[in-house]
Amino acid sequence: MKFSLSRGLLATVGALLLSALASLALAQTPAGEAGMGGGMAAGGEAGMGAGGQTRNPADQAVEYRQALFTVIGGNFTPIGAMLQGRAEFNGANALKGAERTAQLAAMVGDAFTDVSKTGAESKASADIWTNRAEFDKLAKDFTDHTATLVAVLKKDNKTASAEFKAAATAVAGDCKGCHDKFRTK
Ligand code: HEC
Repeated sequence: MKFSLSRGLLATVGALLLSALASLALAQTPAGEAGMGGGMAAGGEAGMGAGGQTRNPADQAVEYRQALFTVIGGNFTPIGAMLQGRAEFNGANALKGAERTAQLAAMVGDAFTDVSKTGAESKASADIWTNRAEFDKLAKDFTDHTATLVAVLKKDNKTASAEFKAAATAVAGDCKGCHDKFRTK
């Protein structure tokens, strides 16, 4: 797992998610293809197939999912750096990142729809859909552990307490555990 993203990247990944959401909403053609950053009306029409260029729903779903994980990474990375001593502990930033990660964690299960199974660029293992109960358990652990991290930091975010370290380690373990099991290399 990479903990090397700079904090400046947070804004970028936020923008990425927004643009992925916007393209989902408008069902636009890929930016590279049509390059129409243009009006909502045009996007809506294209989505209706006016230009015959509707995007593959599987690829769209994967793009959304990867954007979600990019933003999860952007918000948890600073906490990982604090945990590993590569960045000074900053309680306010840790709490902010934990709250955001917890909210995003709740979206993970829903990002693995059936249609997303066949997205060309996905690194999601096909085992997710044949072993859904185990996958859902890992996704639930992730929401539980991020909620615990938030609770710990709300109680005390003055120092990198042992409780903070344990809670953040559990979340980092969720990332690694699920990637090892359900993400292809
Ligand atoms: C329950 C399973 C699960 C958990 C928990 C999880 N991930 Fe992932 N993650 C995945 C899967 C599966 C993919 C591959 C998605 C795809 O390519 O369609 C992925 C992809 C990613 C990506 C790459 C996104 C891209 O653009 O391709 C990043 C970054 C990432 N995860 C970060 C994290 C971090 C950080 C955490 C913990 C804070 C985490 N993930 C927790 C399953 C999980």
